Amino acid sequence: MNELDALVEAAQASFSKATTPADLENAKAQFLGKSGRLTELMKGMAALSVDEKKSRGAAINLAKQAIEAALAAHRQALADAELAQQLQAEALDVSLPGRQRGQGGLHPVSLTLERIEAIFGSMGFDVAEGPEIETDWFNFTALNTPEDHPARSMHDTFYVEGGTATAPNLLRTHTSPMQIRYAVQHVKRHQAAIVSGVGMPEIRVIAPGRTYRVDSDATHSPMFHQCEGLWIGENVSFKDLKVVFTNFCRTFFESDDLVLRFRPSFFPFTEPSAEVDIQFQSGPLAGRWLEVAGSGQVHPNVVRNMGLDPERYIGFAFGMGPDRLTMLRYGVNDLRLFFDGDIRFLSQFQ
Ligand code: DAH
Repeated sequence: MNELDALVEAAQASFSKATTPADLENAKAQFLGKSGRLTELMKGMAALSVDEKKSRGAAINLAKQAIEAALAAHRQALADAELAQQLQAEALDVSLPGRQRGQGGLHPVSLTLERIEAIFGSMGFDVAEGPEIETDWFNFTALNTPEDHPARSMHDTFYVEGGTATAPNLLRTHTSPMQIRYAVQHVKRHQAAIVSGVGMPEIRVIAPGRTYRVDSDATHSPMFHQCEGLWIGENVSFKDLKVVFTNFCRTFFESDDLVLRFRPSFFPFTEPSAEVDIQFQSGPLAGRWLEVAGSGQVHPNVVRNMGLDPERYIGFAFGMGPDRLTMLRYGVNDLRLFFDGDIRFLSQFQ
């Protein structure tokens, strides 16, 4: 191998060892720089004759071109490698799952309310909603619970400033005020028929909503839900209450052998009054009596406050706790879980 070929090979070897552009520039200087090996060879030509210069010059030029080509090739290779590395580093993994929006869902108590509305709806009950800030009249007095009545002490609540007996002054302690509110509207709508003696269509309504009491433990929350029920007509009896409520409970809990017990109790706005207990025949709660509602035949004073004649109109009412129904249906043992807003708990009901 002649000297020039060896030089070209040496240059190629040196270039290909370079792993960075700086390495490559150093290598280039060794061959093509001012005092590089090729430059030295060219300087050496000064002593040659004209003919020798021609042939030697051509040969050195070829070698120079070969070295420059090798240099360019390696430069390109380094640039390609750098680009490849950069692309690799910046690569997007398109197989990663996208960021998803959290999926919301109905609160378990809302699911229960929907269920209650659907079941009573199928039995011809209207659904009504009313104010949570209530007057003393609707919350107590109209419901046969005058100011000095001892039953008021079981309904300690939160009062708002500036209220009077007729202006809203308290957070309602139950949904029972809706009995009066709804009935009064109904009576107004059918006043002509009532006055003429034809009589009004029956009142059949449920009123779900939030209620408030000064109470807080594993089974009581200062805010809780109730659902009121009212059926008033000319011939509505306690038997109808039993049929309706039994039908409701069996449908709600999807259990045909569910047993109900009407246990005598007291409420100022009903007479007689009963607490409704249910008993499952199978499952984890089997055999225990579980209280789910208060109920009774609407007191004549309450019927009167609805604007109706208690000699002609009669019916029943009930008030149940959707929170408790939800706990029983899903086997939840602490009411407070419903109101903590913990997504790990709530998502289990979707
Ligand atoms: N309002 C009662 C309470 O909160 C529950 C109740 C009992 C409602 C008897 C009624 C009823 O409609 O007839 O304790």
